[in-house]
Amino acid sequence: MSTWFGDARATVLLHSVTTSVDALSGLPFDDASADGMDGDVRALLAEYWTQRARSERRVGRAFELMVPRLEAVSAAPEVLTLLRSAVDEERRHAGLCMQMAAYYTGTHPAPVPAIADVVLPSFGYDDPVMENAVLVAGMCCINESIACVWLEACLNVASTPLTIAANRLHLREEVRHAQLGWAHLASSAVPPTVARAVDELVPALIEANRPLWQEPHPTLPLEGIPEHGCPGRAAHHEVIEMALREVVLPGFAQVQRAQRN
Ligand SMILES: [Fe+2]
Ligand SMILES: [Fe+2]
Repeated sequence: MSTWFGDARATVLLHSVTTSVDALSGLPFDDASADGMDGDVRALLAEYWTQRARSERRVGRAFELMVPRLEAVSAAPEVLTLLRSAVDEERRHAGLCMQMAAYYTGTHPAPVPAIADVVLPSFGYDDPVMENAVLVAGMCCINESIACVWLEACLNVASTPLTIAANRLHLREEVRHAQLGWAHLASSAVPPTVARAVDELVPALIEANRPLWQEPHPTLPLEGIPEHGCPGRAAHHEVIEMALREVVLPGFAQVQRAQRN
């Protein structure tokens, strides 16, 4: 599996899979790092985490909708297990994000904000195996892999105990969401002809996803708030490009190699 990523970054990402994920209750919410912070900066960070909560909820709902679809195309039991777990994990991430927002506002956590109903994208293929393979490629192989590298970058710049712990907890679980995608595309549930057809769509899928990731956060300052786990805009831009170059593209190449063997 580590060869799918091919460099030391994989060691960080994949090592985290083996560690305990039952750490939410142990997060250091008594971290005093926010004491004395400017109120406007605290508000920015609260909004940042609230936005992350919405995003986690949207992804969780999308995974929920994907479960019956992957069941219907006879995805491997291991893939389905990871996908079902991902539904719960994204729900938990959303709650954690709201706890983080509350930490910065100094209030009790608010419920995760409501989101518009999630509709899975349609790629227009009559063959459900192909349709769902493209969906998995976009949702898991591209989006979740980018998320892992981005979270690693957030973790690398963070210096406060709580933001380090929170981003580490997310990363531990997001990596499995990426893995389930790679595992599905490389599995016997996806015939080689379909895997090749998906591979031809990779540039278009990347171009569809890249702008969403590269969109500047609406409220964070240009220089970010690194000590609280928010890289600056230039660093964020580079991290997304690096994720595509060093994880996503090699991952799809590895799928093709796996399908040939
Ligand atoms: Fe998540
Ligand atoms: Fe995820």
